[in-house]
Amino acid sequence: MIKVTYVAHDGTETVIEAEEGTSVMQAAVSNDVDGIVGECGGSMMCATCHCYVDEAWEARTGQRSDDEDEMLEGAASEVTGRSRLSCQIKLDPSLDGLVVHLPEEQL
Ligand code: FES
Repeated sequence: MIKVTYVAHDGTETVIEAEEGTSVMQAAVSNDVDGIVGECGGSMMCATCHCYVDEAWEARTGQRSDDEDEMLEGAASEVTGRSRLSCQIKLDPSLDGLVVHLPEEQL
């Protein structure tokens, strides 16, 4: 199992464990983590799974794609260099302990 910490906009942390291959969005939705909506189910057709990868994890989660960039233009909260669509981050053992921060709003 891979541990992920979601840090809400107010600083509240939720720690969950998910199986390898699960996306950061799916892991949040199936564990009722507030702050990730995942309206399109992970097909990169919304931006309601927006998250900010913690600085310490940026190198391991990789860069966002051009398609992600485009979709993030519709995000409800500010997009920064650490913004990602969490449905596009698949959990693998190298991401055990991953920390992501959640935007103020998703819709
Ligand atoms: Fe819609 Fe990620 S869930 S883009």
